[in-house]
Amino acid sequence: MADNGLILVTGAAGQLGAVGRTVTGLLLDRGLPVRAMVRREDDRAAALRASGAEVVVGNLLEPADVYRVVSGCRRVYFGMSVSAGYLEATVTMAAVAREVGVNALVNMSQMTVSQMSIQNTTPSPQQRQHWLSEQALAWSGLPVITIRPTVFLEGFFLPLTGPSVRDRARIELPFGQGKTSPVATADVARVIAAVLADPGPHLGRIYELTGPRSQDMHGMAREYSDALNREVTYADIPPEDWERELKKVGLPEHLTRHLVTMAELNRAGRYDRMADGMERVIGRPAMSVREFVSLHADEFGGRRA
Ligand SMILES: NC(=O)c1ccc[n+]([C@@H]2O[C@H](COP(=O)([O-])OP(=O)(O)OC[C@H]3O[C@@H](n4cnc5c(N)ncnc54)[C@H](OP(=O)(O)O)[C@@H]3O)[C@@H](O)[C@H]2O)c1
Repeated sequence: MADNGLILVTGAAGQLGAVGRTVTGLLLDRGLPVRAMVRREDDRAAALRASGAEVVVGNLLEPADVYRVVSGCRRVYFGMSVSAGYLEATVTMAAVAREVGVNALVNMSQMTVSQMSIQNTTPSPQQRQHWLSEQALAWSGLPVITIRPTVFLEGFFLPLTGPSVRDRARIELPFGQGKTSPVATADVARVIAAVLADPGPHLGRIYELTGPRSQDMHGMAREYSDALNREVTYADIPPEDWERELKKVGLPEHLTRHLVTMAELNRAGRYDRMADGMERVIGRPAMSVREFVSLHADEFGGRRA
């Protein structure tokens, strides 16, 4: 199928550091044309337009919107916020991509899917939907590339440990003694941009992405301390207290159940994992926790001189 080079990136507005937004920037930096899909016109949409993307507005749960935004693109990055309609959006995208015809569909998933099967699932509705989404995409026969990152530094550790590190120099999470190897979305986006720039060699592949080290939360706290030049410690808080706090800030039930499951899996050692997807695609490991915290020092309350 002729490829005019135009690449669709869904979920492109995001927060600073979110996948779709970063992928859009990286593709534009490579001189590639990008159609950036956002949910509404706002400052983020204006910034994407100013950076050179063609901005389109639509809802990934509306088939007609998805048809309109995919039409004319042969390469697609599909990802959106953790939310209850994720499976429906994926299947809608698959139906449209089959109808329109695409040469590459890069699907954002999660590394926990690697540990899942019919007999072995998790209580997270998001992880269940990613597992089913991967199944449906496999049945679709589409040229899919699957991205399975472990937990994100930007999307999890920055918002959920930033305030307590800033205020009390403590990482407060119910992760027990479990190890984890978080990855920066900046690195995840680098992998996705490289795949979209030249999808051919990657078709059908699954890339699992982790940071360069798997360590318990005391080890993570030492990396925070080194980056900030002040002591940061880990407090293993009761899971019920954490869940109560998540509910207090009014997170949707779908997201709360996902986060509570992540903590459970962490305590059970299920996030103790390493993978070589970064090296396979871009030839180098992801950034370390120390490098990440150093880059975001202000958001963690600053570095002591
Ligand atoms: N966070 C982690 O630790 C982690 C780890 C591994 C994998 N993942 C996966 O990464 C993905 C999330 O990536 P991210 O953090 O970059 O995403 P994100 O920033 O949370 O979301 C991207 C965009 O999706 C848009 N969106 C949501 N619902 C939509 C709809 N119905 N139609 C159109 N757009 C919609 C949102 O628009 P608005 O901003 O306008 O609401 C948002 O800007 C998920 O698949 C998640 O499972 C996350």
